[in-house]
Amino acid sequence: YRLAVLASGRGSNLQALLDAIAAGALPARVAGVFSDKPACGAIAIARENGLHHVALRPRDFADRAAHDDALFSAVADVQPDLIVCAGYLRIITEATVRRFEDRMINLHPSLLPRHKGLDTHAAALAAGDAEHGASVHAVVPALDDGPVLAQARIPVLAGDTPDALAGRLRPREHALLVACVDAIARGRARLRDGCWAFDG
Ligand code: GRF
Repeated sequence: YRLAVLASGRGSNLQALLDAIAAGALPARVAGVFSDKPACGAIAIARENGLHHVALRPRDFADRAAHDDALFSAVADVQPDLIVCAGYLRIITEATVRRFEDRMINLHPSLLPRHKGLDTHAAALAAGDAEHGASVHAVVPALDDGPVLAQARIPVLAGDTPDALAGRLRPREHALLVACVDAIARGRARLRDGCWAFDG
């Protein structure tokens, strides 16, 4: 089962997938790592692990569509069964979402449908939420809007800051992402016409 991982950040979720694969707990392999940020941690992890990786800077392209086309052509080249967006911080064009329909998931750091977009930890605090969390959902053209496969929840504590929340959430995100990719790789959860279907 071939994974393409997209990331713009430190890559701790990529590392969690690699650790689960190395432990024999996830029947998959990372066929490629893709990014809009050549200097990000995820690309460093790919390099250290000898994984195929492609990082293309948006400013080297005429517009969003051209960057997206180039990066996702590289994704298509590795023939992924599943594309995992793990902190890929660019909006993916509708044409690309359609091209990979039912094969792309995103990890979003909020309890969707609450707090779409960026700065979700600050948003949860500003809203006075008693609970915060992360969601794995199917990627659809509207931002952070696809059907949710699963969520991890944590309580918001008195005195929490965005960094404290993010830090407590991170290990829960890792476990959530690994569990979701595992369920999909084993055929227990699958996307059909944009909806999750469950088996076994
Ligand atoms: C995670 O919080 C994820 O939910 C969000 O971006 C962050 C990525 O972290 N979308 P990392 O790069 O995997 O460490």
